[in-house]
Amino acid sequence: MKNKIIRSVLATVVLVLGAAAVIWANTPPPPANQFLGLYDTKFSALTTREDCLVCHVSDEVLVPRHHALINTQGMMCLDCHTMIPDGAGGFVFDDFRTCSKCHSTTPHHVTTKAAAQDCVSCHGNFIDNPLDGHYVPSYPASSVTPMPVGRQVVAPDGSSAIVQGCAACHQGDPTAIDPKTNTVRRIYSNNDTHHGTGIGAPGGIGNCTWCHDTEGGVSSMRRCESCHGVKSLHNIQKKSAATATITPGAEALGYGHIGNNWDCQGCHWSWYGNASGSPTTAIVPALNGQSSYTLTAGRTTTLTLTGAAFTNVDGNGMVYNPTVTISNATTSISLTPSQFTDSEIQVSIPALQAGLYDLRVAKQGVVSNLANLTVAPELAIKAVIGSKATATITGTGFGSAPPADYKSGLGVFLGETQIKVRSWSNTKIVAVDNNLVNGAMVTVKTLNGAISKAVTAAPKKTR
Ligand code: HEC
Ligand code: HEC
Ligand code: HEC
Ligand code: HEC
Ligand code: HEC
Ligand code: HEC
Ligand code: HEC
Ligand code: HEC
Repeated sequence: MKNKIIRSVLATVVLVLGAAAVIWANTPPPPANQFLGLYDTKFSALTTREDCLVCHVSDEVLVPRHHALINTQGMMCLDCHTMIPDGAGGFVFDDFRTCSKCHSTTPHHVTTKAAAQDCVSCHGNFIDNPLDGHYVPSYPASSVTPMPVGRQVVAPDGSSAIVQGCAACHQGDPTAIDPKTNTVRRIYSNNDTHHGTGIGAPGGIGNCTWCHDTEGGVSSMRRCESCHGVKSLHNIQKKSAATATITPGAEALGYGHIGNNWDCQGCHWSWYGNASGSPTTAIVPALNGQSSYTLTAGRTTTLTLTGAAFTNVDGNGMVYNPTVTISNATTSISLTPSQFTDSEIQVSIPALQAGLYDLRVAKQGVVSNLANLTVAPELAIKAVIGSKATATITGTGFGSAPPADYKSGLGVFLGETQIKVRSWSNTKIVAVDNNLVNGAMVTVKTLNGAISKAVTAAPKKTR
């Protein structure tokens, strides 16, 4: 095995603590685990719908997000749902479930945020933004300055290992097993992950010099520090079984950057300082799961968030606790959780208006990776009042009228039969059919979902 582990090199100076956990990779690395930050992948490796749904969750989230574009960007049904001949003179819908059919090139690294080098907006403070003025040392590089890759040494057992650089721990692994699915999910190497963004490549945003000293790809650590600065690098850590709250220097080795002297050595090699002397403050929180991804407008909800590093102490014993932020162009709120542990937060979300919101966990000055909350209008039928083969359906969240020129699957139904719609607004639909008798079950299929209610007779006019 070529790029073997610094573990064997360092085994003589550090005791390996046995910690049993569900893990992706090796503890200690390489390769590094995949609990914090985004999974080490590249867009072109995401070939199936399931690959996208790891972050984009489900139909429940994506259907309303796509359909919200009808109102916000004036898109038409047929812009997305194209019809193709079925071979028998009719038409069927072309596949509209396979993400890569429409999203064939990276949508993530062509966003205005990415082009403006606001990488933190999605990645959180696991990195610094190149243009935010963060500290990068100017004193001369020394024998303890980390290198972008590292240097090869011969380990005591005679094998070769990488030390003093990112590849000491962050290496690719084509056979990594995802503990959630128990299937192979490849971890990519540092040049694969960074080059996989398309930044600097023809057709992509930016330049090679965003990461390299030259357009040809010559690297120095100080250039990498334009995103991996002293501050962000020394605030990346996952809790190990050794502590109750993340504590620099007191963790088992291999869980991050500042948990253990061994971790310092991975980057600095000959640095034998005290781990608690590192410039660690609020360790960057990682947000990996939510009890709910879509909420109903106008209702308070309790949300459970899962992840890592939600709380920590620094070298001086100062405690850093989480807040939850929810924002979009018009709203920005910061919430104090009712309960939290290192890996779980309970927070009460106030009533929100329908729309798409950014969701993050924050700790004094740092934010997690970005997640979303889709707040959908409440779909409800108040009443279905029938008289003379006409039903007036009142309620909320019916959305825009379905198209009349082709079968969209949306509309008003009596059992399996679609009936004629005379008018359709967000709160009122008028449908006509001879079978609209008292007690008949009416189903309304809208962009926001389907809902049913029985017809009741119009109340007798009383004077
Ligand atoms: C590692 C997590 C992750 C994976 C995997 C992922 N996405 Fe995303 N995606 C995000 C985040 C975070 C954003 C930014 C927030 C948002 O708009 O939801 C985003 C945004 C987007 C956007 C909107 C970009 C814009 O213009 O604002 C599209 C489109 C998209 N993703 C499509 C896809 C497709 C298609 C796949 C699979 C090929 C995919 N994503 C896989 C996390 C992911
Ligand atoms: C911006 C592209 C876009 C537009 C515009 C759009 N759709 Fe969709 N629609 C989608 C995608 C993508 C899916 C599937 C999402 C998924 O697989 O999670 C979908 C799913 C659906 C479904 C299946 C719903 C479900 O719960 O699975 C229906 C029905 C539908 N669309 C009807 C319409 C109608 C009618 C219109 C016009 C009023 C429309 N769509 C406009 C992209 C769009
Ligand atoms: C039938 C074509 C089509 C398919 C299939 C499709 N999308 Fe989209 N999607 C679009 C279009 C068009 C837009 C709007 C323009 C854009 O951002 O590229 C969009 C936008 C998005 C957005 C951003 C919406 C926003 O709020 O701005 C996300 C996220 C997204 N798609 C994810 C996915 C994922 C994940 C899948 C697979 C489950 C998928 N899409 C399948 C056509 C499609
Ligand atoms: C709109 C959200 C978004 C923005 C803004 C963004 N990224 Fe990403 N980034 C993602 C998503 C989602 C992935 C995983 C899927 C992919 O590669 O497209 C990713 C993956 C990556 C990866 C590989 C993943 C890993 O863990 O190594 C690197 C490197 C990266 N981005 C760099 C950047 C840089 C540099 C910028 C700023 C110039 C940036 N990103 C801005 C969403 C974003
Ligand atoms: C001593 C081993 C070690 C070395 C050396 C190392 N890392 Fe890490 N790094 C880790 C571990 C462990 C994690 C946490 C992995 C997890 O649980 O997700 C991590 C996480 C990260 C993360 C956040 C999560 C992610 O995967 O994006 C970034 C960013 C990162 N490292 C950058 C670097 C950079 C840049 C270098 C080189 C300057 C480097 N690391 C060197 C062990 C190391
Ligand atoms: C988002 C950051 C990023 C961008 C942009 C980027 N690279 Fe890299 N590149 C890396 C990282 C990280 C590595 C791995 C560490 C190293 O070898 O320095 C790497 C490695 C390399 C290497 C040496 C390893 C190899 O693959 O043989 C070359 C050569 C290189 N890049 C060339 C380029 C060129 C040319 C461009 C522009 C087209 C470019 N890079 C754009 C981050 C980047
Ligand atoms: C323009 C910003 C930028 C620059 C410059 C940059 N990176 Fe990264 N790097 C990222 C982002 C973004 C991530 C992904 C963080 C996450 O997981 O969300 C990342 C992640 C990493 C990781 C953690 C493993 C992984 O793939 O997630 C390593 C190691 C790393 N970078 C090494 C390097 C090296 C070496 C250089 C210099 C050659 C470099 N980076 C330059 C933005 C950058
Ligand atoms: C992921 C790699 C990485 C790890 C792990 C790491 N460091 Fe660093 N450290 C760096 C980098 C990069 C610099 C900046 C070096 C430069 O540019 O000269 C740095 C700089 C420093 C500095 C100088 C800060 C300044 O103000 O100039 C100290 C002190 C330090 N590290 C201590 C530690 C200690 C103690 C640990 C373990 C608890 C540790 N480091 C772990 C990458 C790392």
